[in-house]
Amino acid sequence: MTDITGTPEWQALEADAAALKDVSMRSLFEKDPGRFARYSIEAAGLFLDYSKNKITEDVADHLIALAMAADLEGARERMLTGEAINTTEERAVLHPALRDFSQRDYHVGGENVSRKVRAELAKMKSFADGVHGGERKGYTGKPLTTVVNIGIGGSDLGPFMATEALRPYWIEGRKAHFVSNVDGQHIADTLAAVDPETTLFIVASKTFTTQETMTNAETAKQWFLSHGASEDDIAKHFIALSTNAYAVKAFGVAEENMFEFWDWVGGRYSLWSAIGMSIALQVGFANFEKLLHGAHAMDEHFRSAPLRENMPVMLALAGVWNRNFLGIGSHAVLPYDQHLHRLPAYLQQADMESNGKRVTKDGEAVQCETGPVIFGEPGTNGQHAFYQLLHQGTDLVSADFIAPAVSQEETGDHHEKLLSNFLAQTEALMRGKTEKEARAELKEEGYAPPDIDRLAPHKVFPGGRPTNSILMEKLTPETLGALIALYEHKIFCQGALWGINSFDQWGVELGKALAKTILPELAKAGEEKPEAEGHDASTNGLIDRVNAVRAK
Ligand code: F6P
Repeated sequence: MTDITGTPEWQALEADAAALKDVSMRSLFEKDPGRFARYSIEAAGLFLDYSKNKITEDVADHLIALAMAADLEGARERMLTGEAINTTEERAVLHPALRDFSQRDYHVGGENVSRKVRAELAKMKSFADGVHGGERKGYTGKPLTTVVNIGIGGSDLGPFMATEALRPYWIEGRKAHFVSNVDGQHIADTLAAVDPETTLFIVASKTFTTQETMTNAETAKQWFLSHGASEDDIAKHFIALSTNAYAVKAFGVAEENMFEFWDWVGGRYSLWSAIGMSIALQVGFANFEKLLHGAHAMDEHFRSAPLRENMPVMLALAGVWNRNFLGIGSHAVLPYDQHLHRLPAYLQQADMESNGKRVTKDGEAVQCETGPVIFGEPGTNGQHAFYQLLHQGTDLVSADFIAPAVSQEETGDHHEKLLSNFLAQTEALMRGKTEKEARAELKEEGYAPPDIDRLAPHKVFPGGRPTNSILMEKLTPETLGALIALYEHKIFCQGALWGINSFDQWGVELGKALAKTILPELAKAGEEKPEAEGHDASTNGLIDRVNAVRAK
């Protein structure tokens, strides 16, 4: 693909941005009563309103033209037909195959992978049913009521986020814990809270080589064996979710306790695979399947809707407009649902590990900005923390507001209050408050003219902060599945437009390699170590300082 920034479509959008520089979003709403209907889309149980972006018909047309110039439709086709679009790792990217319950078959390198998907799902179901039905018991004959999922990155964030999101669907009496950090306090705190006789450990790792996960898994195994369990009992209490059968066996997990997925499932796109076992155990397999169905409904929409009516495409294009033409480098994810409290963390990996890239697929430096910084918190907590900067900071930040119209747990008037905040924030971010309005307000409040002069600048809100609103009726397994798939496809579309490979993550390697070098240079408690050398002065100095304290 030629550099997208050199195309006439890109230049048309640059001209649009220049023409709209002094046009307020407020005036766009005042001039066009049809704006909400024109810039909203309903699909797969979700409703997206992207009208509070500085988008006009020209902009929308030019964004679609840009998508055509980037051959977005072709890229989508190549992904869905199993082409090795992850070019640096020579892998297909087929997470939609994990949740396709139609008769459609997916192929990778000539092999029908749908059969394997169905077989693995059946194996997961039988295991989950066995645990729930009490046929699978612990080493002392007690039922397995507790799960400890040991994994990190995609092997933690997805299942943890979804399990939390589906709290109202938890099976009574069951508890899932998630251990990710190599900080020993994480596993120690968790082990202190569980009973070895009733706990099932899930070692979740695509590669089964990740330092954090293997260290935590080994600690969990030793803890288990120190509680009167034998090596043979490991089979009853440890299962593995991985693509690496060899390493799973070497760790001591029997073949029948390994649930497989494949190299065409990216770690951050894997919660639909065996990696979702902790979700299935906590909410039941039927609800796990509903999650997959919800995602599939979004896949079908993404696959077939015309670009202008396609929710992931338009969400992606609004993001490209904000990022590349309005210079917005940060994007907030703001779920107004406490159960979605891990969604921002999940999307940080999904988006930033996918699109935090600086070279194109061909290895050329990209000529435009790529993925933004993603951050967020549930509303309303974020309002009392960082929204000040969203409203009045010097940087523009775009945001997604996400809410169910009906809460799973309607309590008094909490939900109306929550929603009023959601709606008010998007309105305030769009409208802002002019100096004239600020002054009139201060006058109304009885301030004297000098005080009005002094305070007015602080009370001005520039407005024009772009937001998307994503509504659903309720947060259910189906709508959650659709929501996650929406973001997956948004990320895919943006990566395709920027011409980058969204499916590798070489950027995590350098730090990992250096940590391996540093590990043997660090003192165990009470150990003396020679002065560090071979690093820069800062790193040597820090190693020496840490070692001096640890030697005491
Ligand atoms: O951070 C790098 C990464 O490879 C992620 O992409 C992945 O989700 C995570 O590590 C965990 O990897 P694994 O599932 O192989 O343990």
